[in-house]
Amino acid sequence: MPVSAEHVRSLHRYELRILSAIERWMKRYSWVPLEQIKDTVGLSESEITFRLGRLIGWGMVRFNPVPYDGYALVFGGYDTLALQALTKKGTVSALGSLIGEGKESVVYEALGLCPVAIKFHRVGQRSFSSARTNREYMPEGGHYPWIFASSRSAEREFAALSTLHPEVSVPLPVHRNRHAVVMSLIDGPNLNRCRLDEPAEVLDEILKNIRSAHRLGIIHADLSEFNIMVERGRCVIIDWPQWVEADHPNAQQVVQRDIENILAYFKRKYHLNYQFEDALQCVTG
Ligand SMILES: Nc1ncnc2c1ncn2[C@@H]1O[C@H](COP(=O)(O)OP(=O)(O)O)[C@@H](O)[C@H]1O
Ligand SMILES: [Mg+2]
Repeated sequence: MPVSAEHVRSLHRYELRILSAIERWMKRYSWVPLEQIKDTVGLSESEITFRLGRLIGWGMVRFNPVPYDGYALVFGGYDTLALQALTKKGTVSALGSLIGEGKESVVYEALGLCPVAIKFHRVGQRSFSSARTNREYMPEGGHYPWIFASSRSAEREFAALSTLHPEVSVPLPVHRNRHAVVMSLIDGPNLNRCRLDEPAEVLDEILKNIRSAHRLGIIHADLSEFNIMVERGRCVIIDWPQWVEADHPNAQQVVQRDIENILAYFKRKYHLNYQFEDALQCVTG
């Protein structure tokens, strides 16, 4: 369910309060009982159920009646909380169209002080649906719903971008709220959709960027032609949440796999025969 800027703007303050209350209680419950919401927001039951009805209709909250009336945020609701916070801060003033949809995210164009991209992380949707059948009270720390997994993923990506920029060619990190990362908008296609005029130079540039990241202690760990964009002839490496520390015990294997993926792509598409040992030397030597 995509977020709607319209609904975020027209949200009543009670609705916002209810979303925040559900968010808070989801640390403890897969399905937050109506009682908990009532205690937290301090509104009448009829007001709350009316507001919840609207939130459910907009795809922000889900209701489950068994064995008790329980409510949970879905991604639309979590997106709304993040967007609301980013709007309040002035980071984002308008949400534009969907520009990317990956394995674990949706990416929107947006307007801030300059054009930006907002990446909403979507980790653990499967664990969300399994949570639907698990309605028990969760002990502190024993419950890790998708909202925290997604937020953690965004946090990791933002940390990597902050460390890497500007030495490594990555989007400029602007802000993070919850599971949403705001970064500069890259104006160009993904590498897999390009036909390069100077592939050898581009491959060189990519390897130099992998080396710079490695020197800053970071290995991408999911590098491929899908996670590189080309903007005015320059490569920009995106999609960093799964990065691995360069001193991690498996670091060598991970960096080798990143390099192999890139070399294989340039070999397949451009028949470039760059020796793996040379590339590894360039990155870690
Ligand atoms: N900063 C950005 N500017 C423009 N487009 C972006 C930006 N970040 C991501 N995208 C687009 O969104 C897609 C998905 O983002 P990505 O970070 O790769 O997430 P995923 O983990 O879901 O693959 C990318 O392939 C790219 O097309
Ligand atoms: Mg990607």
